[in-house]
Amino acid sequence: MITKDLEVISVFGARGGGKTTLVMELLAQGQRQRVIVYDLKDEYRFKKIRGKAALWKFLKQNWYRDFKISYVPDARETPEHVKELSDICFAIAKGQKADESKGKGKNITILVEEMSVTAPNQRYPAGMGGFPYVVNVAREWGVEVIGVSQRPAQANPDFRGNSTLNYYFHLSDRNDVQAVKAKLGSQAEDLKTLERGDYIKFHSGMITRGKTKPRRR
Ligand SMILES: Nc1ncnc2c1ncn2[C@@H]1O[C@H](COP(=O)(O)OP(=O)(O)O)[C@@H](O)[C@H]1O
Ligand SMILES: [Mg+2]
Repeated sequence: MITKDLEVISVFGARGGGKTTLVMELLAQGQRQRVIVYDLKDEYRFKKIRGKAALWKFLKQNWYRDFKISYVPDARETPEHVKELSDICFAIAKGQKADESKGKGKNITILVEEMSVTAPNQRYPAGMGGFPYVVNVAREWGVEVIGVSQRPAQANPDFRGNSTLNYYFHLSDRNDVQAVKAKLGSQAEDLKTLERGDYIKFHSGMITRGKTKPRRR
């Protein structure tokens, strides 16, 4: 069943802090049954789909099944990623919207890694706004978005503004610490001293702390 008002989840922190480890924990939770990772670095060990033609074929054949897939994009440079991710987001939003109106289908999670490259803080050209479109409206149609970045200040602002559940790992860059002060207030300063795996979670106005469980690669 499609659920409305799914979260937009941000995971921010410096390289090696534990972001991907946390994301894997989130994806292992039972409620996430359809997952597509925009896997820039080709690091997720799900079924790999390379290139858009293969992706459309897979989605057409498996749309009403459960799946976790790692989509390795064709794009290399940021403008190409913006376009490619946009096309994928529009296609998924369209499918979910149609399902929701017919009372069928299931939720889907879109995970976007390395947002400073794939969903950057820039103005997107006309027709390439699929990612901000999804974070602005698609939660109504059972779309959950998880975005990961080393640089919160460089991630898409619609995403940041719509994020409802935020995880922060170690951050040291002053601009990045500044960028998360709106959510964490003075606790943003604590991000500078977090150790590997430690995070601060912000959800519904509540700030809590946690730690990832290291896994074997
Ligand atoms: N709580 C933890 N304690 C020790 N090592 C951890 C912990 N959580 C994650 N790690 C390890 O730290 C490394 C970096 O984690 P990763 O999730 O890849 O970080 P990021 O995605 O932020 O770059 C990995 O080798 C991971 O297994
Ligand atoms: Mg990572």
